[in-house]
Amino acid sequence: MLVPSLKEAKIRTNKEVLTKTKEYIIKENLKKLGVGKKYFVKTYGCQMNEHDSENIKAILEDMSYTSTDNIEEADLILLNTCAIRENAHNKVFGYLGKIKHLKEERPHIIAGICGCMAQEEVVVNEIMKKYKWVDIVFGTHNIYNLPNILNKSIEKKQQEIEVMSCEGNIIENIPVKRDSKYKAWINIMYGCDKFCTYCIVPYTRGKQRSRKKEFILEEVNNLVKDGYKEVTLLGQNVNAYGKDLKEDYRMENLLEDVAKTKIERIRFVTSHPWDFTDKMIEVIKNNKNIMPYIHLPLQSGSNRILKLMGRRYTKEDYLNLYYKLKKALPYSSITTDIIVGFPGETEQDFQETLDVVNECKYDGAFTFIFSKREGTPASKMVDNVSIEVKNERLQRLNKIINQYSKEANDKYLNKVVPVLIEDVSEKNNGTLMGYTDTMKLVNIVADKKYIGTIQNVKITDVKTWSMDGVIE
Ligand code: 5AD
Ligand code: SF4
Repeated sequence: MLVPSLKEAKIRTNKEVLTKTKEYIIKENLKKLGVGKKYFVKTYGCQMNEHDSENIKAILEDMSYTSTDNIEEADLILLNTCAIRENAHNKVFGYLGKIKHLKEERPHIIAGICGCMAQEEVVVNEIMKKYKWVDIVFGTHNIYNLPNILNKSIEKKQQEIEVMSCEGNIIENIPVKRDSKYKAWINIMYGCDKFCTYCIVPYTRGKQRSRKKEFILEEVNNLVKDGYKEVTLLGQNVNAYGKDLKEDYRMENLLEDVAKTKIERIRFVTSHPWDFTDKMIEVIKNNKNIMPYIHLPLQSGSNRILKLMGRRYTKEDYLNLYYKLKKALPYSSITTDIIVGFPGETEQDFQETLDVVNECKYDGAFTFIFSKREGTPASKMVDNVSIEVKNERLQRLNKIINQYSKEANDKYLNKVVPVLIEDVSEKNNGTLMGYTDTMKLVNIVADKKYIGTIQNVKITDVKTWSMDGVIE
């Protein structure tokens, strides 16, 4: 039993991060543990979690479990959770109720919780007290040990908790079962050292640890061999890639080296404005396979609030970077994240956020109401903004954001743009779906044989969140 500790999660040491290539070992007797049994994994949150679930699924299949999309027939149910806002929390606890019912009907079911919530001391304490029927809890640093955690819980018929709070090493040999055959997530770094005052990520994902370039490039090259068209380089703050490595090798170098492989499309998320260098902009501009799409979280347009958030830039710094990007990459699309109702945000502060939105006219934005996260500095700040005001600000912001999304999309009407066609459309109306180089969702009337290819598509209709098109 290893339970998380908030105190430990806050610590950053100079201890060297080791790259381990032999850590994931699956004992012979565990390779058959899941014979005849089905697993169901539900994922909440960001791309990092999606990708962790791809690892978890591969590990379970190494143990002979098979997948099911139907929770009713699952023998093993795992919730890969997100801790970023309270509603993500509540959703998970709501879902646990459903699993409890299933377990009452079929007691042999193994239920587990992993991901960012599993890293939270308060959550694990609650699970130990009130959810004794949850069989396993494992943290974001413990995924590689899932076979042993699972086996222990089954053998001993008891709740098994393994959550490491300290920073951890980089484990390189975890298998992956990718959701797509055409586009792939690649972790280039783990953790975050920015400690923005509202954010729980530095505590749930540990200190910043960059993967060595050899492993990243090998992964890209193998994906090219397997026919993949697109990779997304993942990290909480990808622009800081390499700052923790011994050699002088940074995000611009990595982007350049990935661009030299034969992968047709490269994306990267998420950027922090603080670490976006001129060299990176140059590399994006000079390499056709790096997509002209930048996600550049603003969070707030008020310098006062930005300071309270610990964001390390001013509105002026942000706008300066924005214009630099637009000048170098005029065709690019830029999206953002914005938080409203940060503790003490006044109408004036909020107006300043709207001013930046009116200036940047974003292609899209994820907008959130501030959510208090246990253990973060912002959770201790006096929050005197009422929920009514927060809701009203969010609505006003979203109205403007949507207006600019539509305006940005309008420019695409009758234009021909490259689209990686990924799948049949969710609408199930016989169309296919894919994304443009600038990350716009397009629904296309076309034959299924085009799935997995990049096609020139003429845009025939434009909406706020998607477009329609036909292959040229
Ligand atoms: N409350 C509201 N939004 C948050 N985000 C991160 N932490 C919080 C919080 N405590 C938002 C930020 C970040 C995005 C991933 O989630 O905008 O960029
Ligand atoms: Fe959180 Fe800030 Fe790190 Fe992003 S950069 S993960 S918002 S601490």
